Amino acid sequence: MEPAASLHFSLPASLLLPLLSLLALVSAQFTVQGPADPILAMVGENTTLHCHLSPEKNAEDMEVRWFRSQFSPAVLVYKGGRERTEEQMEEYRGRTTLVSKDISRGRVVLVIYNVTAQENGTYRCYFQEGRSYDEAIMHLKVAVYS
Ligand SMILES: *[C@@H]1O[C@H](CO)[C@@H](O)[C@H](O)[C@H]1NC(C)=O
Ligand SMILES: *[C@@H]1O[C@H](CO)[C@@H](O)[C@H](O)[C@H]1NC(C)=O
Ligand SMILES: *[C@@H]1O[C@H](CO)[C@@H](O)[C@H](O)[C@H]1NC(C)=O
Repeated sequence: MEPAASLHFSLPASLLLPLLSLLALVSAQFTVQGPADPILAMVGENTTLHCHLSPEKNAEDMEVRWFRSQFSPAVLVYKGGRERTEEQMEEYRGRTTLVSKDISRGRVVLVIYNVTAQENGTYRCYFQEGRSYDEAIMHLKVAVYS
């Protein structure tokens, strides 16, 4: 067995400082994760769209948004610590709930009540903090009774 090599780096201070600020920038970032499989619902059912930050991070002061083809108005917008109904698409008003009990751990759930066939399709769950943002893409498959 070879003895473990002892490594010794010495960095000039002029290099160390930019390196540390780069590390700070990287650690401020996150990714958004959602269900990989399509979410299945029947017309008239309530459906839940989950997403969360990785690594776990408090999102109370972030912007959280679910949207479809257009960013705004959206399906649901949370910003400045509250929901922004003025940025919500007409057809979703009064039909959604943001479950935010675990938002301090970066976990949120959107509930859509009485889902319709028109609501079938792709949804994006977007988190933004300052200049960092990410989104998860998920697919809601709404089936009609036949
Ligand atoms: C949808 O949610 C509402 C409110 O929580 C509840 O009253 C209703 O029974 C639910 N509908 C279905 C189909 O589960
Ligand atoms: C969902 O549909 C049921 C039955 O049509 C209705 O009574 C209820 O008010 C609806 N809920 C919402 C939140 O739209
Ligand atoms: C629902 O959306 C998916 C894509 O997310 C699409 O493949 C499918 O054809 C759509 N179904 C209906 C009934 O529109």
